[in-house]
Amino acid sequence: MNTTPIRLGLIGVGGMGRWHRQFIQILEREGQVRLAAVADVSPSALAEAATQFNDRALAGYRDFRELLDHADVDAVAVVTPTPTHAAIAGEVLRRGRPLLLEKPPAPLVSQLRELMALDAGGRAAVFFQHICSPGLRHLRQALRDGRLGALREIRSVAGWPRGRAYYQRAPWAGKMTADGEPIFDGPCTNAMAHFIHNALHLAGAVSGGDDFAMPRTVSGELYRAGQMESFDTAALRATFDGGVTFSALYTHACRQAVPHVTEARGERGWLRLHEDGSVTASSAALALPVPAEEHVAFLNCYRDFLDFLRQRRPRPATRLADALPFVTTVNAALAAAGGIHSVPAAWVRPYQQDNDEGVDLDRIGAALTACLERGALPSEQGLAWARAGRTLTVGELPPLTVADLAAAAR
Ligand SMILES: NC(=O)c1ccc[n+]([C@@H]2O[C@H](COP(=O)([O-])OP(=O)(O)OC[C@H]3O[C@@H](n4cnc5c(N)ncnc54)[C@H](O)[C@@H]3O)[C@@H](O)[C@H]2O)c1
Repeated sequence: MNTTPIRLGLIGVGGMGRWHRQFIQILEREGQVRLAAVADVSPSALAEAATQFNDRALAGYRDFRELLDHADVDAVAVVTPTPTHAAIAGEVLRRGRPLLLEKPPAPLVSQLRELMALDAGGRAAVFFQHICSPGLRHLRQALRDGRLGALREIRSVAGWPRGRAYYQRAPWAGKMTADGEPIFDGPCTNAMAHFIHNALHLAGAVSGGDDFAMPRTVSGELYRAGQMESFDTAALRATFDGGVTFSALYTHACRQAVPHVTEARGERGWLRLHEDGSVTASSAALALPVPAEEHVAFLNCYRDFLDFLRQRRPRPATRLADALPFVTTVNAALAAAGGIHSVPAAWVRPYQQDNDEGVDLDRIGAALTACLERGALPSEQGLAWARAGRTLTVGELPPLTVADLAAAAR
């Protein structure tokens, strides 16, 4: 099919922006898109992007507002640090430009609601690429087709070791606030945010449409085992109208990596989704034979957005409003946890590996297994370092504020 490439502006070309540049290059070869302008506060990141796209005079700006003022673009992708999302995405929307915003859309529900109010035309999408993976789509379809029976439970775990280098890679890493701005950076709001968003999409499968379910109640436990301002271990449970329960445990405070697994259990069967997006095992012979590669999900997420702009799809995979259940869930998890619990040193083993140093939380491997097998949170497993939180009704929660984030910081 003949298409005119969509002229794209990319704000944030270093870090994750490097990945976006790669995907944009692939989509350029398909004639889908053309990178027309970039913005980044870092001159070296701008120079790298100009070298990669040296077949054109790529317009580069240090200030993203100049890109919005001067560049001839049809849409803008924003891949800047999370604490800048509200301001940059807000400006893109005020200029009436379609927006593709990296996840998480914003740290606080109140900020996301402001972005939603600016997006009256519904032309903004959030880059939660995992829901575009073939495995997640397969699992969701199996649920919608009733092949597992009525959905009862979702469990999800991941242990991704992250040491000092990870927390020192960017000034906002491992922070709750900076200069009065919300950040709220931790496993459930950053690296493993996808798995929560996935679970909310699975829980929404039973209601039909492309819904993301809003939890009725949320329980939470947030732990700081290492030396960061925020947290490196997060456990949460969400319950939904209709009786579905989602339990999760995610950590960076582990020496051994535990690949992500999400399991959906229905009345008649279960199905497991693995780290790479493949469905590895199922009680109902529904496993996908070929593991899905991660770049497939990334490209699908872009294609969905571009197809939506071309009016070939009624909506992108995740609209701003679709991310409201995710941001609500993680905001509620902090409130339910009653802050971040610093784990006493007796239960934390520092380790060194590959010129980096991290921490290993006592019995964290077994804790992840118990969460996957029984849905048990750390406080329900009798772990000495664990501290039970409360269960809060989401509809009764006051909005989380930047002062709440600051109060939870070490
Ligand atoms: N979808 C995913 O799987 C995935 C993976 C990693 C990161 N992310 C998200 O991508 C975003 C960026 O993360 P990162 O680790 O690349 O961040 P980063 O700190 O490396 O910054 C990315 C780029 O943004 C630039 N930048 C910073 N402030 C800017 C500003 N005001 N205007 C223009 N450019 C600016 C930086 O110079 C850098 O080149 C975050 O929201 C993160 O959550 C998503």
